[in-house]
This record gives sequence, structure tokens and C-alpha cells, in this order.
Amino acid sequence: MATDGRSLRERLEEIRQRGISAIRSATDRDEVEQARVEYLGRSGLISQAMSELRDLPVEEKPETGQTGNRVKGELETTLELRLSEIEAAAAASAPTTSVDLTLPGRRSWRDGIHPVTRVIDEICEIFREIGFTVATGPEIESDWHNFTALNIPLDHPAADMHDTFYLADDRLLRTHTSPVQARVMLAHEPPIRVLAPGLCFRRDPWDASHAPAFEQIEGLAVDEGIDFIEFRSAIDFFVQRFFGAGTRTRFRPSYFPFTEPSAEVDVTCFLCDGSGCSTCKGTGWIEIMGSGMVNPAVFDAVGYDSEKYTGYAFGMGPGRIAMLRYRIPDIRLLYEGDVSFLEQFG
Ligand code: PHE
Repeated sequence: MATDGRSLRERLEEIRQRGISAIRSATDRDEVEQARVEYLGRSGLISQAMSELRDLPVEEKPETGQTGNRVKGELETTLELRLSEIEAAAAASAPTTSVDLTLPGRRSWRDGIHPVTRVIDEICEIFREIGFTVATGPEIESDWHNFTALNIPLDHPAADMHDTFYLADDRLLRTHTSPVQARVMLAHEPPIRVLAPGLCFRRDPWDASHAPAFEQIEGLAVDEGIDFIEFRSAIDFFVQRFFGAGTRTRFRPSYFPFTEPSAEVDVTCFLCDGSGCSTCKGTGWIEIMGSGMVNPAVFDAVGYDSEKYTGYAFGMGPGRIAMLRYRIPDIRLLYEGDVSFLEQFG
């Protein structure tokens, strides 16, 4: 640009005027971009002019510098404004004939958390607060871990109840997560507080209320001096957190070979608040887990001193809990992988 003896400030003003009109007369994005490069680019007119600052007498520098910055800012604002005008105009005149805007949109769904996983995560999180960590064990188990260590003799009817898928030798698909109790105790000394979520397998039919593969969450606490009161408080803490404050808990006597005494835990029905509905079959109570104080025979099997240690164990079916909570009428929905069902749990 010719200097014609004019001051740098005067020339900056001229750049400003020409720049503004170049930007305003741009009619599309390319022309705006051209103007940007010419005026605001790294070696554009403003940069060139500003590089002359250093040759100015000291007293002129601040004011000229400010002028340069102001011009630059104004051009940038004008440019943004022009770009949005151009975009708005393009959107307004876009052809609409090929797109029927009244059609429902195609929602995209990439992933979500499975309702059973959601329940498992929540349960683990609640028990984490009272010192439980998460452990896992193999789905293919030995019959020793699955039955014998848990005080279930192989010819015991309780083993039949768990009729399962046998593999070669003494291997089988575990029928419950309780063998993880034995594995954790064999690997660690007390104190122990673990949860073990995982899949279990039984030779059950595939119908609305049975699946041959389903999840369980096992819980185990072993220490010196654990009594039934500690057991009940831990379960109560969990129930209040998971099902809501005010939910009541009931322990019903039951039988499991690996716990003594054993109990089924019921909670007040969270759908009718205990007044009786079709979900709780009019009883007001819903069974959520099998549980009990660890049978000393199990401590003997894993080599723990059964005179010194006591503990409690429990097992829940998070799939069943998810069905109740989300009112899912058919267990197969949990395992078929049908996206139109699963995406509701986004
Ligand atoms: N393993 C038992 C079942 O599958 C549940 C259970 C676990 C009961 C731990 C008591 C203690 O039915």
C-alpha cells in the first residue's frame, strides 16, 4: 500500500474503511474468507501495517497501536456478522422439496446401560460405602467350589435343585455366585467384605420367568465378632438406600447348606408401599435375596478357624430386581438384545 506521506494511523483508518466494505459486499463464505485473509490474515494488511509500529517515534506508538487493535476488532466483528447473515440466508433459501419436515426424525441411539448392569452398579456402589469391594470368579467352576466347599454334598438334593450344565470331568457352569465365596476365602485372610456379581447357569426353561443364564450378586463378610445384628444392619442399610428410606425389611427363616441360620429377605413392596398389589401378589412383601450367617462347615472347607471367625453371606438376582423396578413383564427381554427395548434405558 502506498504511504503517500500519510501517517500509519491514517492508513489504518483507510484499511478499516476498505476492509468493512469488502466484507459487507462479500456474497458467500468464500468471499468472506478472501476478505479475511486479505485484511486479517497473518500477512494481511493489518499485520503489515502493525509491523511498521516499531519504526515510529516512541510517543506515537501507543495511540497508533490502539488504533490498529480497534480496527482489527471492528473488522473481526463485521466479518462474523456477515458470515452469520450469509448462513441465515442460505438456510432460508435451502431447497425444502426433497425433505419432508413433518416426518418424525430418525433418532440415533448409540449405546446405553443395560437395566441389569444398572442395578448391579447401584448395588455395588451402595455396599462400597460400608467397605465392600468387588470380586469375580470363573463361570466354569469345579464341582468342589460350586457344591462341596459350600457344604452341598454332590448326592444332596440341593445339588439336584441346581441341576446344571456339566462339562468334562468335574467342571460345570456355576449354578450360583456362591463359589466365589470359597475362592475369596482361599485367597485372602479375614477381614473380608466382598460383592461378587456375575452370570450363573441352570438347566431352566426359556420362558417369561426363567432364563438358563442369569445374573446374581453374592455378598460375603467375614471377621471376628460379626453377629446377626451387624448382618441385619448391613442389609437394612442397603435396602433403605436402594429401595428408598422407609422401606421395611423382613427376615424369613429358610435353608441353605452354606448358611446357618438362613433367611430369605423380603422388603415392603415398593410398587404398592406394602398395601398389596399384583406384583407382590397381595402380600405387601417382595423377596429380594437368600442369606444367612456363614455355616462353620464352609470355614472348615476353606481352612478358616471356625471358632474365631463368623460372617454373613447373601445372594440376590439383579435381573429379578430390575424386572420389578422397571416393571419388565418377561425375563427374556433382558437377554434378547432387542435395541427397541434396551434404548428405553438410554
Ligand atoms: N446361592 C444361593 C442361591 O443361588 C443364594 C444365597 C447366597 C443364599 C448366599 C445364602 C447365602 O439360591
